[in-house]
Amino acid sequence: MDTQTAVEQSDRYLISTYRRAPVAFAGGQGVWLTDVEGRRYLDFVAGIAVCALGHNHPALTAAIRAQAARLLHVSNLYVIPEQTALARWLVEHSALDRAFFCNSGAEANEAAIKLARRYWHRKDVARFEIVVAQQSFHGRTLGTLAATAQPKYHQGFAPLPPGFVPVPFDDLDALRAAITPATAAIMLEVVQGEGGYRFPSPSYLPMVRRVCDEQGLLLILDEVQTGVGRTGRWFAYEHFSITPDIMTLAKGLGGGVPIGALLATEPVASAFQPGDHGSTFGGNPLACAAALAVVETIERDGLVSRAAEIGGYLVERLRALTERMPAITDVRGLGLMVAVDLSVDAAQVITAARDRGLLVNAVQPKTLRFAPPLIVTHQEVDQAVDILDGALAAVVQPAAAG
Ligand SMILES: Cc1ncc(COP(=O)(O)O)c(C=O)c1O
Repeated sequence: MDTQTAVEQSDRYLISTYRRAPVAFAGGQGVWLTDVEGRRYLDFVAGIAVCALGHNHPALTAAIRAQAARLLHVSNLYVIPEQTALARWLVEHSALDRAFFCNSGAEANEAAIKLARRYWHRKDVARFEIVVAQQSFHGRTLGTLAATAQPKYHQGFAPLPPGFVPVPFDDLDALRAAITPATAAIMLEVVQGEGGYRFPSPSYLPMVRRVCDEQGLLLILDEVQTGVGRTGRWFAYEHFSITPDIMTLAKGLGGGVPIGALLATEPVASAFQPGDHGSTFGGNPLACAAALAVVETIERDGLVSRAAEIGGYLVERLRALTERMPAITDVRGLGLMVAVDLSVDAAQVITAARDRGLLVNAVQPKTLRFAPPLIVTHQEVDQAVDILDGALAAVVQPAAAG
């Protein structure tokens, strides 16, 4: 199939919830994707921070093949050893005690919200409000949409579930002022992802933790995008020497196989009892065998410290570009979660980069996101930065000249 046919068929049959670029991929290897016409692209989107091991990684492919040949799915009515093994791995590598599995980031956050409310309900305390941050992104279900304090995502979906109190991110006074006797939890991304790769100041999260401790509130950290090594630590909360009461994961965890996870400390986790929550597919043998292969491979190959190191190199290379490219107004990153602010619309730069063989996307209209697989090499970073250089020159310099 050629690109034009792929685009036409897609436009004809799919509900148009996405603004799709006119490119269709047929295969991938490592950090590279190949489209249906054989063109190759460096993939610095990675399924939006999902494909931690890149494409067609032998360890992940082998685990999926072996599990598919053994057992794809059984119900959570029965014990699932692959699920237990993944839970154990996550518990042993984090500050949390127990896990629940689902199929996406939104579902993990939905479960987190329910768990926080259930926790207080079990204590017979009327606490149900959750303080959230402006510019947050927690998902597209009605509950997680309500937690997502960005009005543009809410439009036309009213009424949303009540009980979410938005405050500016990285503003401790505002957070303190929002707490009432009805507050159950504070829910934050460690680094705001879809909000524009916004990093908190170093003291913010430790102070939020302290406020939670003083007031007996639960701290829910959404690590759907930041978790599983992306920021150069297994979990981004480690950068701030704090631990959450509840943490959610998805994206990188399955390396491309859909899976989400809710983790909680023992006293919080025990608020869920049989029947309180569930998911038909959540934690099935295939998804858990895949996720276990992902985390074990990341660990075996030292990809977490590698993400820290190579992310630093990417930021360095991009900053060097700034000297020649005034259209770049800021470069920031933590591990392989890197953003570039532009003085021009990101859309045209993204198209120009894609035409030259680099996939990047925008987290905000003028902010490019770089979230390559954790296996990316220095050479591939160099290639990506060179392509971006050419793309920016093509977009910006004619505009500047004109
Ligand atoms: C921080 C964060 N939370 C939740 C989600 C929602 O995850 P999903 O699309 O898997 O439902 C996302 C997706 O971008 C995210 O970045």
